[in-house]
Amino acid sequence: MSRILLIVSGGIAAYKALELVRLLRRDGVGVTSVLTDGGAQFVTPLSLQALTEEKVYSSLWSLTDESEMGHIQLSRAADLLVVAPASANILAKMAAGLTDDLASTVLLATDKPVLVAPAMNVRMWTHPATVAAMATLRGRGVHVVGPEEGAMACNEYGFGRLAEPAAIQAAIRSLLHHASLHHASPAAARPLAGRHALVTSGPTHEPIDPVRYLANRSSGRQGHAIAAALAGLGARVTLVTGPVGVPDPPGATVHRVETAEQMLAACMAAFPADVAVCAAAVADWRVAAQSSTKIKKTPGGVPPTLTLMPNPDILATLATAGPARPRLVVGFAAETDDVLDHAQAKRTRKGCDWIIANDVRPETGIMGGELNEVYLVTASGVEAWPRLPKSEVAGRLAQRIAEALDVAEALA
Ligand code: CTP
Repeated sequence: MSRILLIVSGGIAAYKALELVRLLRRDGVGVTSVLTDGGAQFVTPLSLQALTEEKVYSSLWSLTDESEMGHIQLSRAADLLVVAPASANILAKMAAGLTDDLASTVLLATDKPVLVAPAMNVRMWTHPATVAAMATLRGRGVHVVGPEEGAMACNEYGFGRLAEPAAIQAAIRSLLHHASLHHASPAAARPLAGRHALVTSGPTHEPIDPVRYLANRSSGRQGHAIAAALAGLGARVTLVTGPVGVPDPPGATVHRVETAEQMLAACMAAFPADVAVCAAAVADWRVAAQSSTKIKKTPGGVPPTLTLMPNPDILATLATAGPARPRLVVGFAAETDDVLDHAQAKRTRKGCDWIIANDVRPETGIMGGELNEVYLVTASGVEAWPRLPKSEVAGRLAQRIAEALDVAEALA
């Protein structure tokens, strides 16, 4: 049985930690919890103990706790440490290496992977102190899920809401999966070691004038999850992303661009690659004549007319790049009707090897949501995958890519 050490720190979102425990227990994951003083203002040790069916730890100085299960042992017994919610305070302490309570001491003493799910007011999240702490933690390999954008308890709006328990559960599943592979055999856990993967993600913004642009609603979640999953399997990953609000995926080199033309240039600059996964929702058109100054209204004047011209098709360009073509090129097809017919046609038209197709009619809840239900369309047929968290779709795809590259190499 996998086991996590769940650290619940202070914040109104701490109540969601109880739902997370319920989901993890349903997955068969053992949960030991540490409640900080701040966390205990929002959830009680009794509710955590009832749901985890284990003793809840909170004091560094409890003699009984130390003799039964010392702070080093607490982390030794776990496969993964999860801080949810992670307050600005605990993140700052982790970055600085401070140890003034049980939670921060365990976090400094551990050699296990750590996942944090930040939750705080948007101004605290965007404060340079928190931004610097997060950069330090990410640089040390700490995994991050969320925060999400939305309305907050303090009547403000922005990034800072704790990721939904299902999203934290999905991140935990994927990290535990990698950890178990790693225990089984380090080589099996890094089947993409030595390979270079190029991933596009997010929307593009096509300027109309210096202040306005054309865009779409892509969140970048699926593309970023794929970059993280490929890096998790040992690939060197270059992620070329349009403007998104989701955090950088751990382990990838990230190039931020705005327009389709910049995205294509960044992809070409990253060549050669063994595999390219084009998950970006690239704008099909850009404005033919961008204005270098802000377009002004004139009283009683007619509204401007935008003339559009086609953008380069990045997927098709990479798939037909001649000798430099990545061995495996994967595209996406978001469709609202005749999903498989359109996906097959797109695969042939764009010259890619695989298409990940999905049905994005609004009633499916897939666009912008946490779950995805896809078909893998290849030259040899169609596979229907079950409805899964986007991180698990990414994990499966990364595994399939590893297998396909091994087969291609063996046949070369
Ligand atoms: N794509 C791309 N560059 C573009 C347009 C699309 O790389 N300029 C890639 C996307 O990243 C995705 C796939 O092509 O992998 C999706 O194609 P899409 O734009 O949805 O389909 P279209 O070819 O535009 O066809 P349609 O709009 O008819 O669905």
